[in-house]
Amino acid sequence: MPKITKAVFPVAGMGTRFLPATKASPKEMMPIVDKPLIQYAVEEAIAAGITEMIFITGRNKRAIEDHFDKAYEMETELEARGRHETLRVLRSILPKNISCIYIRQSEALGLGHAVLCARPAVGNEPFAVLLADDLLAGDEPIMQQMAGVYEQNGCSILAVQNVEPADTVNYGIVKCGPGMNRLHPITGIVEKPQPEKAPSTLGVVGRYILTPKIFSHLERIEPGAGGEIQLTDGIASLLQEERALAYEFSGIRYDCGTKIGYLKATIALGLAHPEVGREFAEYLDTYGHRNPSA
Ligand code: G1P
Repeated sequence: MPKITKAVFPVAGMGTRFLPATKASPKEMMPIVDKPLIQYAVEEAIAAGITEMIFITGRNKRAIEDHFDKAYEMETELEARGRHETLRVLRSILPKNISCIYIRQSEALGLGHAVLCARPAVGNEPFAVLLADDLLAGDEPIMQQMAGVYEQNGCSILAVQNVEPADTVNYGIVKCGPGMNRLHPITGIVEKPQPEKAPSTLGVVGRYILTPKIFSHLERIEPGAGGEIQLTDGIASLLQEERALAYEFSGIRYDCGTKIGYLKATIALGLAHPEVGREFAEYLDTYGHRNPSA
């Protein structure tokens, strides 16, 4: 089984849900405590053994490239001041064996189109797709879990979780045959169905391992939900040719594409933070007492 060494990060979206914060800076650069969302996703890919990061970017996304680039002036300055710990944090953003490629998606034609833009960099290998909006936390990083599942099955793997029936309109929803050990064979998939039309309540979260066959399907499909080239429709078409599995990952997903999900992630990761976690917990404990109306 070829190892997964490449990950695609579609980061061209406008992030209108977080305006005005995202007017001049990318939504993927919004921090949870002290790290931007995109860095969490990249770290998850690195933990899975992935070494080539392919970003599908767009206008106003230069900050992402700068974030993963070497910051000579800052490093020199910190070195001169003897700020070794800060320097270590700065240098650890991107380990030396990791490389980054940036491809511009000049038109916002949809997630499927963004993934298709990665084709020249991915070539004929299986690859991962990570949507930075979805922040996934687990004892074992989720993409690492998925890489393990891929190694045993050799087919496309989609991370899924049960969603509220009323929320199917926000997800790609899979239809599955009987499975075991959190793994279910996918027999169909639809993008954002109305609850009464949804084939199940298993929603796809933003983690995929895909075989390169997906590209020829993405090339052929017509625009779908929202008039966009949907990755979900590409996968539905791929199913005619190859099997794919839905994997109920072990961990928690924070939907940082919404304000409430972003706030929940901030609380969870703030409480777990080695530097401020304890003080933050004490603060939250007494918050209700000091602000009785809250
Ligand atoms: C995208 C996908 C959808 C998936 C979701 C996960 O939708 O199109 O299938 O369930 O990500 O976050 P978006 O949230 O970009 O509308």
